[in-house]
Amino acid sequence: MPEQTLQAMQKEQKKRSLSGIQPTNTPHLGNYLGAMKNWVTLAEKFDALYFIADLHSITLRMEPAALRKQTFESFVLLLAMGIDPEKSVVFVQSSVSAHSELCWLLNCYTQYGELSRMTQFKDKSQKYPENINAGLFTYPVLMASDILLYQADFVPVGADQKQHIEIARDIAMRFNGAYSETFKLPEPYFTKSTAKIMSLSEPLKKMSKSDQNLNATVFVLDDRDTIIKKFKRAVTDSEADISYHEEDKGKAGINNLISVYCAMTKKTVAETEHEWQGKGYGDFKIAVGELVADGLKGIQQRYQELSADKEYISSCMKKGAERAASIAHRTLKKAQKKIGLFQV
Ligand code: TYM
Repeated sequence: MPEQTLQAMQKEQKKRSLSGIQPTNTPHLGNYLGAMKNWVTLAEKFDALYFIADLHSITLRMEPAALRKQTFESFVLLLAMGIDPEKSVVFVQSSVSAHSELCWLLNCYTQYGELSRMTQFKDKSQKYPENINAGLFTYPVLMASDILLYQADFVPVGADQKQHIEIARDIAMRFNGAYSETFKLPEPYFTKSTAKIMSLSEPLKKMSKSDQNLNATVFVLDDRDTIIKKFKRAVTDSEADISYHEEDKGKAGINNLISVYCAMTKKTVAETEHEWQGKGYGDFKIAVGELVADGLKGIQQRYQELSADKEYISSCMKKGAERAASIAHRTLKKAQKKIGLFQV
């Protein structure tokens, strides 16, 4: 058997990992530790597709220039974090029209009631009462389309996206049940300890790209001093006990710092507690800040190099879009046919 065919077959048997990130701001430490670090690991083992979810980000008002800039920035960061655009398919969501096309079809297989129950819809419509648009409501259907188009096995995400994967499965099951097997049922994939990195200022809230408080979020392109300063200001509690208490809400701040410390050092919670026994919060905060700054340094350097080569990035975006479109189009055609849309 020719080697190329064998390689193609091995690839075909590989499981598929797929995920996306919205370009609403620069990715932050929560995005990185909660999701993107796993993207890199899964890309080494599996067939992987990752994209910048720009269509999702327009459910909130964005300046056109900021949207363009942040789409480019997030794309480059994926490569800087270690995703090889030759091996994995890296693309911008809006450059593959099948996402919007399948979304319309799946809208007709999704119930008003199930979309009304989505936590993110309820949160966002409370936060932005002046702009509760239909896109915000059908956001999960576009996300289901993103996933189902590529027949993904795993979707590496943070805990906040679990409900969206569940509804994607429900929509897929409904469609498969109405016709015949069309979409693969995806599984969420996350690392429990980092699935929800909390705000440094209000540790009961998750770290978010849109937090108004500048000290709450560590962005992956923040410089070393800024990162350390933000960690030094991290809100903890009035005790001085570096130990992890999962159920104790008053300990959310130190729990979060311990989770970040463990993720950066690959140490267990018990090892960390032992190492820091009897030491103060102040030193621990500086240590966590330094570890994060050191951990992000390589990514920041690669980002600077790659972002200077606009032609290369643009060719990666183009190639990624072509490769993604050829996979997506096959699934879209299949769904259209099953529904009975006339094939011209
Ligand atoms: P987004 O852009 O909000 O976040 C990107 C990824 O980062 C994870 N994440 C976190 N993980 C841990 N701690 C946090 N504080 C934290 N904040 C965010 C998110 O769970 C996510 O995995 N709807 C998605 C984008 C999307 C998508 C998809 C994802 C569009 N289509 C299809 C998977 C599959 C979102 O808004 O992610």
